[in-house]
Amino acid sequence: MPHETESFVNHLLAQMTPEEKIGQLNQFNASPTPSPDLLRQGKIGSLLNASGALTGQGFSDSGSAELTNHLQSLALESRLKIPLIFGRDVIHGFRTVFPIPLAQAAAFDPDLAGQAAAVAAREATATGIKWTFAPMLDIARDARWGRVAEGNGEDPYLGAQYAAALVRGFQGADMAAPDRMVACAKHFVGYGAAEGGRDYENGEISEPTLRDVYLPPFRAAVDAGVGTLMSAFIDLNGVPATANRRLLTDVLRGEWGFDGFVVSDWESVEEIIYHGTAEDEADAARQALQAGLDMDMVSGVYLNTLGQSLAAGKVSMSEIDEAVRRILRIKHRAGLFENPYTDPSRAARDILTPESRTLARRFARQSMVLLKNENDLLPLRGFRRILVAGNFVHARGELFGTWTPDGRAETVTPLDEALRQTAPKGVELWFAESVDHALHSAHYADAVVLVIGEHPARSGENANVSDLTLPPGQAEFVAQMAALGKPLALVVFAGRPLAITRQMNQAQAVLYAWHPGIEGGAALGEILFGQEAPSGRLPITMPRATGQVPIYYNQKNSGRPIIPDGEFRTRYVDLPTAPLFPFGYGLTYTQFSYANLRLSSETLRGALEINAEVTNVGARTGAEVVQLYVRDLVGSLTRPVRELKGFQRVELQPGETRRVTFTLREQDLAFTRADGTFGVEPGRFQVWVAPDSKSGLQGEFRL
Ligand code: NOJ
Repeated sequence: MPHETESFVNHLLAQMTPEEKIGQLNQFNASPTPSPDLLRQGKIGSLLNASGALTGQGFSDSGSAELTNHLQSLALESRLKIPLIFGRDVIHGFRTVFPIPLAQAAAFDPDLAGQAAAVAAREATATGIKWTFAPMLDIARDARWGRVAEGNGEDPYLGAQYAAALVRGFQGADMAAPDRMVACAKHFVGYGAAEGGRDYENGEISEPTLRDVYLPPFRAAVDAGVGTLMSAFIDLNGVPATANRRLLTDVLRGEWGFDGFVVSDWESVEEIIYHGTAEDEADAARQALQAGLDMDMVSGVYLNTLGQSLAAGKVSMSEIDEAVRRILRIKHRAGLFENPYTDPSRAARDILTPESRTLARRFARQSMVLLKNENDLLPLRGFRRILVAGNFVHARGELFGTWTPDGRAETVTPLDEALRQTAPKGVELWFAESVDHALHSAHYADAVVLVIGEHPARSGENANVSDLTLPPGQAEFVAQMAALGKPLALVVFAGRPLAITRQMNQAQAVLYAWHPGIEGGAALGEILFGQEAPSGRLPITMPRATGQVPIYYNQKNSGRPIIPDGEFRTRYVDLPTAPLFPFGYGLTYTQFSYANLRLSSETLRGALEINAEVTNVGARTGAEVVQLYVRDLVGSLTRPVRELKGFQRVELQPGETRRVTFTLREQDLAFTRADGTFGVEPGRFQVWVAPDSKSGLQGEFRL
């Protein structure tokens, strides 16, 4: 009950000494384990990485639960018996590793992402972890940035749908339930705009773009009840995000009504000094606290300086009280005062169940994107000897992708074995990892599947690249293989869209598999051999070349828009301006046609219904992601050439037609104007019901 929580928290706060209050504002790393006295004195509010692989402690899962219980018991020896909250990066699964978040977005299925988050919460809480540093909601328009893998791509609408579903998945209806955990929407905000795609770099985002592109996923997380947010490392528009009062307090609390707490990113309170707006630790701590940053992740500057700053009158007791109140509120809501301990016997029951593996396989299948399939090379039919070659042939843990401290390579069926298990009888599969071996064997094969791409270490935090082509040596390998003239299918594993422009012409089929997680091998086999069809869509634009980034579909029109010719029209002299594949794009093993676009009215008054007939005109059952886009033709500020406003996944039998209907509401057309107000502007709008962001049936209405 909210009322109960508030009176409980205020009662506790009234009994706390200033030292105990400041203690709650600190998060320590659990490795090396902090002195028991700090815990007993109530000087630590939270521990991160208290279990599992990152700590290098080699604990079993039940042992991890016992370890967190032990640390908790020390905290509960403190005068007021305030429990710790244990945090950890449970990003795309705990032991059951799901596809990377970018791949999850490719499934265009937020419900599925919510189910996966619920599995992750069940597994992680079984080891005592009650708080995950997920979901990462950073919009990313630059694939060089390593962390594109951790987010849901470039689109604010898709991002917002995933944000809400992930928060609900982790937290459930009641975050106090033993198998649910507190979510943390990160990194607030603008982190994806780091210049040059270099992690930790600074960024500039205009107010309307911040409001309409970067903030919506966070707003959706707050509306879904997210318990915490994490501030970004970035200096945004000249203000370190960790010290940004306007965003952390005025927008987040004032406008949106968020009442949970904000944690800094790793040492980002201290880093305010390096950004250059704070003179020393005390100044950095003061700025962050007064901005609305409640918990200091590991830098220790809150613990070391806030006491003195309080005594010197530089920060007030009410400012400290407010931060403590927010932290205690979430601890109370998470049920930690009533149930501070974890039942160690849960681990054996709750971690890596057959059902969670089934879900991971389904998610992996749904996230893979078929980009090309000339003459229906896929699914592979009628080939007796198939060579599978490339650096992913024996992949196990490599299928996980970035940020999987709790994944275990030994729980993964190696890719070659998984393909063997899914191949139809009578098909001989050969495997070759080295280029020489592969080129030699290919002479005797009827078809070749190349499984290539990025090692997970090449994507994720600070794994930025300056060149989006395939990792060194792979383009040559593909070219040599293609020169042999055998039917060639390319499977690309990656944490980002790679510029595979040359390879698109060299292979007859290209399947983009991302880093698909624990069941990635089997999922791939089922798709290659046709038991299942791919149905993922690009959640991020795929560039032709690195020089095109930043590139995204919802750009503004130029005053000299892209047209095929014209010296003084926007262009490159050495490259087409269009991406290799647009946002929303993806094929499957059947084809769909779109017809008969209808609008319920020529004028939107309150709401408008838009629908079109989608027909499966191919020979197989298949899933289509039908997308709704709009364009506001004239605005007081320039408007994007298209914006996603809805999508629906539909499965159709061969020959089946379905009328797919979307409702567009007036508020869906609102945007941030130059004067900072948010609202709609009357006028003409275009609308598309489309298979991707560059095509579709087009209509028009007025508002
Ligand atoms: C730094 C990363 O930026 C953040 O995403 C993560 O949650 C923290 N480290 C904690 O590991």
